[in-house]
Amino acid sequence: MARTENSITFLRSEYKAPAFTIQTVDLDIALNPSKTMVVNRMMIQRAAGQIGQSLVLHGEEQELISVRVNGEIVRGYELTPHSLTIHNLPDQFELSITSANIPEKNTSLMGLYVSNGNFFTQCEAEGFRKITYFLDRPDVMATYQVTLRAIKKDFPVLLSNGNLIKEEELPNGWHSAVWQDPFPKPSYLFALVAGKLQSIERTIKSQSGKDKLLQVWVEAKDLDKTEHAMDSLIASIKWDEQRFGLELDLDRFMIVAVGDFNMGAMENKGLNIFNTKFVLANPETASDVDYSNIESVVAHEYFHNWTGNRVTCRDWFQLSLKEGLTVFRDQEFSADQMGSASGKAVKRIEDVRLLRQVQFPEDAGPMAHPIRPDSYQEINNFYTVTVYEKGAEIIRMQQTLLGREGFRKGMDLYFKRHDGQAVTCDDFVSAMSDANQKDLTEFKRWYSQAGTPRVKVEESFAGNTYQVKLTQSCPATPGQDTKEPFHIPLLYKILGTESSSDSSKASNEQLFELTQTSQTITVEGLKQKPTLSINRNFSAPIVLDFEQSESDLLTLLRQDEDAFNRWEAAQKLFMRSILNGATLTSDLLNTLKEILLDGQLDPAFKDLIFTLPAESYLYEQVKVIDPQAIHQSRRKLRHQLAHHLQEAWLWAYEHHQTPGKFNPDAMSAGKRSLKNLALHMLSESGHAGAGDFALKQYENANNMTERYGALAVMVNFASAHAAKCLQHFHQTFQSDALVIDKWFALQATRQSDLSNPRSVLKDVLALRQHPDFSLKNPNRARSLIHAFCMNNPGAFHQPEAASYEFWAKHVIELNQINPQVAARLARGLDRWKQFAPNYQVHMKSALELIAKQDNLSSDVAEVIEKALN
Ligand code: PHE
Ligand code: ZN
Repeated sequence: MARTENSITFLRSEYKAPAFTIQTVDLDIALNPSKTMVVNRMMIQRAAGQIGQSLVLHGEEQELISVRVNGEIVRGYELTPHSLTIHNLPDQFELSITSANIPEKNTSLMGLYVSNGNFFTQCEAEGFRKITYFLDRPDVMATYQVTLRAIKKDFPVLLSNGNLIKEEELPNGWHSAVWQDPFPKPSYLFALVAGKLQSIERTIKSQSGKDKLLQVWVEAKDLDKTEHAMDSLIASIKWDEQRFGLELDLDRFMIVAVGDFNMGAMENKGLNIFNTKFVLANPETASDVDYSNIESVVAHEYFHNWTGNRVTCRDWFQLSLKEGLTVFRDQEFSADQMGSASGKAVKRIEDVRLLRQVQFPEDAGPMAHPIRPDSYQEINNFYTVTVYEKGAEIIRMQQTLLGREGFRKGMDLYFKRHDGQAVTCDDFVSAMSDANQKDLTEFKRWYSQAGTPRVKVEESFAGNTYQVKLTQSCPATPGQDTKEPFHIPLLYKILGTESSSDSSKASNEQLFELTQTSQTITVEGLKQKPTLSINRNFSAPIVLDFEQSESDLLTLLRQDEDAFNRWEAAQKLFMRSILNGATLTSDLLNTLKEILLDGQLDPAFKDLIFTLPAESYLYEQVKVIDPQAIHQSRRKLRHQLAHHLQEAWLWAYEHHQTPGKFNPDAMSAGKRSLKNLALHMLSESGHAGAGDFALKQYENANNMTERYGALAVMVNFASAHAAKCLQHFHQTFQSDALVIDKWFALQATRQSDLSNPRSVLKDVLALRQHPDFSLKNPNRARSLIHAFCMNNPGAFHQPEAASYEFWAKHVIELNQINPQVAARLARGLDRWKQFAPNYQVHMKSALELIAKQDNLSSDVAEVIEKALN
């Protein structure tokens, strides 16, 4: 394929410790959007046994101005577009490098860049090398002192990691600030922020009685949207003290919001930088989902202070060491914040839905990789749902195997051994294993083998003996044709054993450790065949092949006290209906109606019961994907549920009000989501009042969840009021970028007209020309382009070229602006080989169109290369 450079593959097996270590970094940065000068003074030491080695520093997209060793100018260095090599160095020396870069031209949003007139940095994974020449790898840890200089009237606030130790006025309207971070850190955790920002502040006392200053920095107009982020930060600090005994180690902790950001947020030491989407909220502009995302992202970044910063990764192959563990921690935190047992189950179901919708497809496609990858071309492509969400499942299984207390002992030992170090996934598992004297050798295959394991479940009942035969397998993935058996913790319970002579053992929840290819569970002395509830609470991230009877599934749906498996039973029945055209039996419909009308049940749980399996997950269940067949069959099922339960939906709509002042708590949010679903179902059922309900709800809403829910129904069902309300919405919120993102996304993800399959694409093409649209802002690009191509499968996948060409064109255009955002979009056709031939041809042409471009970034090139391979 056409490339300006050859692609390089990095291998985990080729890890080498650095030849030099850097003890201290003294940065002096004169900020100017059109030319920023960086003086970087480092104390460097040759590592033991590295005699004669030259120093090879990473560096990109900068102008090198001077190199000094112990104060003396050096001229005999070698400079390439990616490195600076210096020869004949002593064992210990001061290296001082002066270089310049152009922040205002930086559209990749890696390194130092400008967003809305302010300066921000993003250094993970390899952005620091765009700021200065450095050993830009996580196992080189140094202490930093940073002097920032800028024109005071334009950049009144100057922030960096750690503690502020000095501020000064300088000639010509400039000023400076000196920051010192007492903790050694890898370069990817460096950050600076400068500009016109304001903050809200709180002072709290940590566990050991020390005062901590907390700040949330935003643009002045957004100050009224910071309270929820601050509350979430305080709750996170308390939770980490209580659950893991981990205290905030700095006197000061800052969160800063930025409107141009590639990812969700970044855990820079003491100076977390966030996408505005995960900070700003007030009831009028943020939905309940936004509120809960803010809570979990704030927690996630805060928790990194220990899992990621105090103990960091030896190399980027170990990314899941910090990410899987930190996602697990934020999931546990959010579950605890739900405030009820049903709330915890709701959180678990949501997490599993995401895993199945996005990670299972990844594990079955051309980009499949173990949570600890063995190779990569571009590390940016490995910030994946596999490393993050599957990584969290692997941590969760360790907690299930060791128990909560055992897991805590393992965490304590991990910090005792590795505080201040850059370590590996093996080190983590060793701490868990040693603290509990449990052999986890086989368990570690979860770190090295890709693919979603399948467990086949076969039941038999004869002569009072009930047997469950479990057989595991795992499909081949790129580079891994065969797999060793996984160590799979299965929580299970045998239901309906009341009449047995010895029910004590069988009727409690048990943990079965499946470690071999095939094993059998036997229960004796039963009078009748029981009902099996297995993989409770989704104890392992696997696919269960289990042809359970409808009557058993209905038993689970009615009475399993494991809420996850209750939900799962309904999902299975829905899946059979969608994929095999099985009709909904009256038993099932009656049970669903009872659930919907059950006044004791958590509304959020009911909402999830009626949320149908995602199309991307349904694709996983078939050999050849016919996306339109799946889409239409799924819509048919929803129509049946709407139609048969119409009265119950009406009841649900009327009985889930949340009057009074807006409260984003889990119970109120659950009511609103069920109410919105009821409105949708009433429209779907053709209820005569639905149009009016939607308009009234839109007009009277005092919060974004209800307003957006009503607007979505109007737009999806082509209500006569849709156009007028869309326009009103745009006008009302035109100065609020995050709400305008919602306005784009709503239209890009609306359901397709079955009679006019191109209508959504037509709208998207028109919105592409809207004056508010820009490809340069990642949130805006994602709200239209990614939303249509990745979150609207029913409209996007048509057996023709148009939408695939639209996709390819945008991957190409984004590749020039922002490779990371482009590469995410490029993942959109990952699974093209599984689609029916009349889709495949067009998908393949679109992929090839991208492949033949010159100047493809390594990010996009890797994704497209692997897809076409
Ligand atoms: N480390 C960040 C997180 O998960 C994600 C991130 C990666 C942000 C790379 C920016 C760049 O919390
Ligand atoms: Zn993270």
